[in-house]
Amino acid sequence: MPLQGKKILLVIAGGIAAYKSLDLIRRLRERGAKVRVIMTRAAQEFITPLAVGAVTGERPFTELFDLAAEFDIGHIRLAREPDLIAVAPATADFMAKLVHGRGDDLASTVLLATDRRILLAPAMNPAMWANPATRRNVERLQADGVTFAGPDAGEMAESGERGVGRMSEPLAIVAAIEKNLFDLPARDALAGKKIVVTSGPTREPIDPVRYISNHSSGKQGHALARMAAQAGAEVVLVSGPVSLPDPSGVKTIHVETAAQMLHATEGALPADAAIFAAAVADWRVANEASQKMKKAAGKLPTLSFAENPDILATISRHSNLRPRLVIGFAAETENLIENARAKLLKKGCDWIVANDVSTGTSTFGGTSNEVHIVTQASVDSWPMQTKESVAAGLIKKIAASLGGAR
Ligand code: C5P
Repeated sequence: MPLQGKKILLVIAGGIAAYKSLDLIRRLRERGAKVRVIMTRAAQEFITPLAVGAVTGERPFTELFDLAAEFDIGHIRLAREPDLIAVAPATADFMAKLVHGRGDDLASTVLLATDRRILLAPAMNPAMWANPATRRNVERLQADGVTFAGPDAGEMAESGERGVGRMSEPLAIVAAIEKNLFDLPARDALAGKKIVVTSGPTREPIDPVRYISNHSSGKQGHALARMAAQAGAEVVLVSGPVSLPDPSGVKTIHVETAAQMLHATEGALPADAAIFAAAVADWRVANEASQKMKKAAGKLPTLSFAENPDILATISRHSNLRPRLVIGFAAETENLIENARAKLLKKGCDWIVANDVSTGTSTFGGTSNEVHIVTQASVDSWPMQTKESVAAGLIKKIAASLGGAR
């Protein structure tokens, strides 16, 4: 049984999808999991504690202060005992509470007190899911290391309503829970290690108001930094301008230009490993104007360029500060593996993570990535997966490569 002995705490918040949580409990239990349940007050408007008790075999927890109940084990124990806490359905309101660290009932207090992995299966009306406040909350929770299963697209409970917001089906939530428990790096996989990550684009000024940049979103680099921190590493993230929140538990240094990125990266050394996921501009404007360039009829400005420092190559060749493991990324549109091998030599790094950015792939700005880990001796090709999964796989591989002692 895949979940044999695993302890899952399921929080059921108040939404019509709560009826599916009964099936979720059954699916988890038939896989060997021990399931405890907390129901919010609103959840009890949709399904009864009696029904939940019948499928779990024990009474669900409902009250923060339940001193009279002899079964009360206290919110701190509830928060620390499980291997994972799943919230299904997670309502917009519940997510907002989580973002703000509020603890005004048992469910929110337990989530505030926990150091366990948290997985949310949102369920709400599509307008609520699309609302800018919910979008901000999802981003913040992801930066805090919370993972999401769904929501799915389809018909809503309210007749005539369609869109993204349906809670994922129980089996999909079970799959996400299993992935969380088994595919993520162990919480101490990188304990005692220091990892430096570069992420995002650089911005090279033309004049005080204009610049040259690229479409890098920083999603892959930020996911790597967050995952390394979750695996116990001390992480310094050197980030170009991105619209992502700083990952929790990571020291983030914000830079704009390639020169600043090199300076900040060197300043973050020594480290055990460095991951160069940033899309650094190859050139900067050599004749940067100190005042805003004026438009004049019939006159076009001429820009001249200077080569930017290659941060990856510079750090790879550092005489005394080179991390034990130096990893570069390569965005290629053709001859992926060959070009990655050539890049290994040219840059002097240990691994190149090559991805195909030819038209039609979602690498730039998207949430998925298909990568090949190229070393002098091997090529490891991974199937298309989310940038989160790529980050989890890479951090596990890095942990295996760095081994025990620093
Ligand atoms: O040469 P290319 O840009 O394809 O190499 C990509 C790799 O080199 C990435 O890891 C990127 O972060 C790094 N790089 C760098 N400094 C540059 C250019 C690229 O660190 N100036």
